[in-house]
Amino acid sequence: MVQYTVSVIPGDGIGPEVIAQGIKVLNSVSEAMSFELNWMKYPYGADHYIATGELLPETALEQIGKHKAMYMGAVGDPRCPEGILENGILLALRFYFDQYINLRPVQLMDGVSTPLKDKTAKDIDFLVVRENTEDMYIGLGGRVKKGRSRQDLQLLRKLYKIKLGLDIDSDHEEIAYQLMVISRRGAERAIRYAFELARQTGRRKVTSVDKANVLTYAYGFWREIFNKIKQDYPDIETEFNYVDAVTMWFVKNPEWFRVVVTPNMFGDIITDLGAMIQGGLGVAAGANLNPEGTSMFEPIHGSAPKYKGLNRANPVATIMAGSLLLETIGEKKAARTVENAVREVLKRRKILTPDLGGTSTTSEMGEAISSTVREIAPSL
Ligand code: NAD
Ligand code: IPM
Ligand code: MN
Repeated sequence: MVQYTVSVIPGDGIGPEVIAQGIKVLNSVSEAMSFELNWMKYPYGADHYIATGELLPETALEQIGKHKAMYMGAVGDPRCPEGILENGILLALRFYFDQYINLRPVQLMDGVSTPLKDKTAKDIDFLVVRENTEDMYIGLGGRVKKGRSRQDLQLLRKLYKIKLGLDIDSDHEEIAYQLMVISRRGAERAIRYAFELARQTGRRKVTSVDKANVLTYAYGFWREIFNKIKQDYPDIETEFNYVDAVTMWFVKNPEWFRVVVTPNMFGDIITDLGAMIQGGLGVAAGANLNPEGTSMFEPIHGSAPKYKGLNRANPVATIMAGSLLLETIGEKKAARTVENAVREVLKRRKILTPDLGGTSTTSEMGEAISSTVREIAPSL
């Protein structure tokens, strides 16, 4: 029997609850379709950090790097300083494994309602390819001019002939800066991936989302690279949208979009919007891909601390991320089975979590999808 090891970080907040349902569903499909999934769990996240001061040790990265796939809940906890877990665990994994594509499908499934008037499943069906390793996420920045020496203040007094008391806020001229970086290699591989994806999935249009009209160096460069690469794909229609305008078009005419490719920061923002038009963060899945290495699959939502331990979070996003995981390790039939089971359960509208307008629990939703998997799994 084929065996796969999958690393898992359930993480914080609702992470462990939704991951438990994802594992349940993936175990059902693997049993039905005769392959084995070994789950290698890691404790990283808020509790571990608070107890030990450790975020994500090198030894864990080495272990995780031995396998193709990783399943992730979410990290982030109000007890920890802002960003420490997000940077030290989630972004650390994306960067360490050079997961340069963040693939986020925006697909409205039957039975799920969209806040967009008069739009149905056939109108909301596109794939966002978010560049995932650079732009403002590169982590280059700093803070300067914090605190002022007595000499500094005296100099200022002389220069501006103003009366500055030594009691003025000595931090008031402090500056923080964070750089955005687009590399030719980084942009090329993301844009080329988007065009290849368009071809493979029979989508005939790629839209680049940027802000080349203002951030001319960085996003002008991105656009130039897009224009170069599109020449290799004469069969694919192309278009540009500025990011501000695209937030309008996603709402007004989502049917225009087939594949969207965008730098990291805008990709983050527009995919939460994308999630809303497909029915909410509870159903939106994502894949952090390194096609040659270790990839990580996760819901695009965070740890939603207010729902922690309440058994009310929707596990569908995580389960759909599990389907992307199966696809990537090569279990394509199993991936389709999971996706079909999710679609079936949502279409029936019997089991619905509160975000979808029902009263079912996280585990009831997981169980319903799991048993549907068992019903529909093709017997080998
Ligand atoms: P969030 O995505 O955690 O939650 C925003 C809101 O969306 C929730 O309050 C809830 O109303 C809804 N929601 C999210 N997931 C849901 C689900 N499965 N079912 C039903 N409703 C759901 O975003 P936030 O509140 O901005 O962030 C909370 C924490 O998560 C922060 O610490 C943030 O940094 C972190 N975060 C982590 C990840 C990640 O690990 N991948 C992603 C985003 C945010
Ligand atoms: C996401 C999240 C992360 C991001 C954060 C938590 C680092 O918002 O996966 O969309 O900004 O990429
Ligand atoms: Mn985000």
